[in-house]
Amino acid sequence: MGAAATRIRSIEVRLPRVSPAAVRKVALAAVVCYALLMVTGGAVRLTGSGLGCPDWPSCYHHRLTAQLSFNPMVEFLNRLVTVAVTVVSGLAFVAALARSPRRRDLLWLSGGLVGGVAGQIVLGGIVVLTKLNPYLVACHFLLTIAVLADAIVLFHRAGLGDAPEEQSSVQLVGTELKWLGCILVGVLGVVTSIGTVVTGSGPHAGAPQTLSDPIKRIPIAFRDIAVLHSDAALFLIGITLASLFAFHVARAPTNVQRRIRWLFELMVLQGTLGYTQYFLHDAAAVVEVHIAGATMLWVAGVGFLLSLHGHAERPAVAGAEAASSFAVVGAPATEVVSAVNGAPATEVVSAVEGGTDGRSDSAAVPEGGESLGTVTAGGGGTDSRRGSAVPEPGEAGQPRKAVRTT
Ligand code: HEM
Repeated sequence: MGAAATRIRSIEVRLPRVSPAAVRKVALAAVVCYALLMVTGGAVRLTGSGLGCPDWPSCYHHRLTAQLSFNPMVEFLNRLVTVAVTVVSGLAFVAALARSPRRRDLLWLSGGLVGGVAGQIVLGGIVVLTKLNPYLVACHFLLTIAVLADAIVLFHRAGLGDAPEEQSSVQLVGTELKWLGCILVGVLGVVTSIGTVVTGSGPHAGAPQTLSDPIKRIPIAFRDIAVLHSDAALFLIGITLASLFAFHVARAPTNVQRRIRWLFELMVLQGTLGYTQYFLHDAAAVVEVHIAGATMLWVAGVGFLLSLHGHAERPAVAGAEAASSFAVVGAPATEVVSAVNGAPATEVVSAVEGGTDGRSDSAAVPEGGESLGTVTAGGGGTDSRRGSAVPEPGEAGQPRKAVRTT
């Protein structure tokens, strides 16, 4: 125990200090690399290059690099992106470790990237060795989405300040709307999972089919599963449209409404692409765009979920440290905490007394808003237009009830 503690301390001494901004940049690189990996992975399958490098981790027997022909090069390119993803994931973890100050949430999230990439490498190897087993190909795709989501959350949290009140979040919409958002992203998960089954039963097995050594396919009629997938997609588009309406009626923060609108627009595009590819007999080029669309939908979906919570801003006025702290008190809705929008990484919470006045693009509060907590005034001034969580002077120490904006 003592030896382990000494070892950890010595790591602290030896690692160069990394700034919070640098950690955020590495997290952004991880988001980009994982999104790229989904698209290049799709390109491998659609060009039939899955066995372009038949060995793992070498490409062909003892050769690490591919021959100069199309399929091995595509598979090799995908492996290079995997290397980039591995390096960036490792870097993100080391950067979180060396970050000053070190933060437990960033360590866990960057550790998730390392774990995810290790899982991807092992699973990718088994996919090649099992000659592109379609169930494992589907798991490979879904795992990439999970790690991409982890990278997005890491990027988001790396942008938050280090003070405890900056870490804690405030729900910006009512509980029902929050659940609606979670259900929506859950259904996106179901549609995506069924999509991978469509792929597994479809014509793009990932490598040329031979009679002597055929690539296993999922034994479901392509048409039937494609119909189920498109029905689920239509349901998803329907509940997204309904949610868009519900968030609008509840006058949710503009940022939240904007994100759900993006989600809806992307879904309509994705659905259109889906039908186009189906009626073009699963044309590979359209399928590739469909995969890119699914990737963007997940980026937008996770971003939307994150936007449902706001974080208090670092106190803008010296001596106002206590201004943005929250404690749940369960009090009736009499006052407002409004969310200022348009700044996803540093969403701010402002204390606004007496209803919806004084807000610009912040949330409106419907009647019967749910009690959220107390904003403790600690000096400084309330700037409800900027959304700063700094209370007005002369009210130091006066707790204010706050309501969740819906
Ligand atoms: C929001 C809506 C949709 C989402 C999120 C979505 C997502 C996906 C995903 C993730 C895949 C699997 C990709 C892979 O494993 O490489 C897929 C495959 C597929 N999707 Fe969709 N999809 C949507 C709508 C549709 C619609 C409306 C259709 C219309 C029929 C459709 C047709 C297909 C087909 C045919 C495939 C198989 C492509 C292949 O052979 O690889 N999709 N979809």
